[in-house]
Amino acid sequence: MQKKMTAAEPFELNRGSVEYYQNPTMYDFDFKKYAPDKKFYSNMALSLGGPILEIGCGSGRLMLDWIKKGIQVKGIDLSEDMLKTAEKKLIRAGKKYANLWSLEQGDMISWSDGNKYNLIVSAFNTMMHIYTFEDMDLFLDNIKRNLGTEGTFIFDILNPDFRWFLRDPEKRWSRTRFKHPLHGCWYYYTTNHYYDAEEQISYVYIYHEPVNEGDGPDYTMRLAHRFYYPQEMSYILKRHGFILDSVLGGFDGSALDMFSTSQVYICSL
Ligand SMILES: C[S@@+](CC[C@H](N)C(=O)[O-])C[C@H]1O[C@@H](n2cnc3c(N)ncnc32)[C@H](O)[C@@H]1O
Repeated sequence: MQKKMTAAEPFELNRGSVEYYQNPTMYDFDFKKYAPDKKFYSNMALSLGGPILEIGCGSGRLMLDWIKKGIQVKGIDLSEDMLKTAEKKLIRAGKKYANLWSLEQGDMISWSDGNKYNLIVSAFNTMMHIYTFEDMDLFLDNIKRNLGTEGTFIFDILNPDFRWFLRDPEKRWSRTRFKHPLHGCWYYYTTNHYYDAEEQISYVYIYHEPVNEGDGPDYTMRLAHRFYYPQEMSYILKRHGFILDSVLGGFDGSALDMFSTSQVYICSL
């Protein structure tokens, strides 16, 4: 956690944007209603079958759904906190699913277990935590090591949004009032960011401030996202030998255009 600041500015990058993922309760609270990708990944898992490897499985949002469909899945994540939450949820799902899942702490840049998976998923912008081309090369080499010959690799990342990049980093945006799931009192959420156009990295600040000063701690979390443009990502994938089966602009199968929120890639080798 960082002391509150006003103008968003670049900060030292660390693997995994750890600050943001140290608080899984807050992550689950923020995204409890986020569901546009669930049906899509669920359908893909059902039609392609397992075993699935989820890279950046977080607090188990998608894994839970897959095991309930009887599909074998292994989740890896860098964050111990996110993994602990995922483990609790998966255990709570019941003993009948116990042999369908496993979790491992690992860095997606270097992790590989030598096994072959029929489906590898990296969902909800996880690959935007790969900040350099060198790391992307290492990451994709590991995907190739773990992908079965008939396997499919699916991931989604945000589509660059120029209106969002241009938001004034000196202002606070998206002010929202919420009841804090850990502190039990009312808070304001605000955010701002600095987009470094040369690095294509957005340095995001998320501010949590109690409505009534002193009711709870006032803190800031930082998160860095590397944006990949569609042509750039397609080029990288092809250079690594991937076949692009589909490039979509959303989980409803829509075409990618300048208004698409996400880029969804379905690839094979
Ligand atoms: C936006 S969350 C997505 C979590 C989950 N896939 C979901 O859909 O809810 C991104 C996840 O990637 C993980 N992550 C970031 N960098 C990583 C790295 N280098 N290796 C492994 N996991 C990483 C974070 O800890 C976090 O859990």
